[in-house]
Amino acid sequence: MTDLAQLHLDLKAALGGATTSAEVEAIRVAALGKTGKVSGLLKGMGAMSPDERRERGPLINGLRDRLTAALTARKTELEAAELDAKLLAERVDLTLLAVPRRRGSVHPTMQVMDEITALFAELGFAVAEGPDIEDDFHNFTALNFPPRHPAREMHDTFFLTPDPETGERKVLRTHTSPVQVRTMRVTPDRPPAGWIAAGREPPIRIIAPGRTFRKDSDATHTPMFHQVEGLVIDKGVHMGHLKWTLETFVARFFEMDAIEARFRPHHFPFTEPSAEMDIRCDRSGGELKLNQGDSWMEILGCGMVHPNVLRACGLDPDEWQGFAFGMGVDRLAMLKYGIPDLRPMFEADTRWLSHYGFSPFVAPNLATGLS
Ligand code: PHE
Repeated sequence: MTDLAQLHLDLKAALGGATTSAEVEAIRVAALGKTGKVSGLLKGMGAMSPDERRERGPLINGLRDRLTAALTARKTELEAAELDAKLLAERVDLTLLAVPRRRGSVHPTMQVMDEITALFAELGFAVAEGPDIEDDFHNFTALNFPPRHPAREMHDTFFLTPDPETGERKVLRTHTSPVQVRTMRVTPDRPPAGWIAAGREPPIRIIAPGRTFRKDSDATHTPMFHQVEGLVIDKGVHMGHLKWTLETFVARFFEMDAIEARFRPHHFPFTEPSAEMDIRCDRSGGELKLNQGDSWMEILGCGMVHPNVLRACGLDPDEWQGFAFGMGVDRLAMLKYGIPDLRPMFEADTRWLSHYGFSPFVAPNLATGLS
């Protein structure tokens, strides 16, 4: 075998074994670089005799051409493979964003608040708010609580330390009814920023969802709980409006065509007449069935706004009438979603939450269903 044929074989073998474009480049330099073997042969042609050059020249040039072609082909092939590998390694999987590894969920109380808000929004109610820390006037006095009413006593109400200068003793609001007062009363001083719907002229249609506080703690009471208040003020409002509104709401809330309810006389200082709304249910067999059996379950408090409350808010009871209602949101959540015990609702145990929780991506609405 000639030296040229051997060189060709060696280079071909080296090229076949190359696995990276860098190795191919090294082979190119070793053969065709300044001091490369093939370059040496090409340079040596100048010193050849014409006959020798005629014989060896085409062979050496042929070797150079074949080698150049083989190097280019191998390099292109390896570079393409390297690019593929690089792209694969740097790949960004956009679908990861849509599949969160840790899923948060919506607390049943907040789910039910959203459901209630969606239902009343459909009926034309706006959302109003008031502060958790209230004064005696809004929580009690304007709501027609007599000075010595038992609900003002220490055992029910969380009182804050009296203000050293004025002696005023604030409270953690014991119900959401003070928002009725804040909504109706148009005061000369601007309402504090952030409270929606404070101080508006009638006609009024609002609900007020929020936190409430009472000194109470057992299987069915927690010191902090949630209520949704409702208030309608207009001309010629009567109990029929109250009854239709609440029956319609409760039926839609429990996702039923109709609900059998009764309005049982009751007493609240701020409504006259006052009632508690009960719905028919069957509790036998450990399961709650609505519209069946002969048990009645209390579901909310309501009544016609007391003339004294209208007066305290600057409204003339001969001109304006209205109804109000208040319901316990946590209790409604327990009823609707079969939660047996109230206390774990506020223990912030994520296992409890992922058991009862709702998807944050599905907001309650009337088009696709509440829950
Ligand atoms: N505030 C009452 C409560 O806490 C509920 C209620 C609201 C009753 C409005 C009548 C009218 O129990």
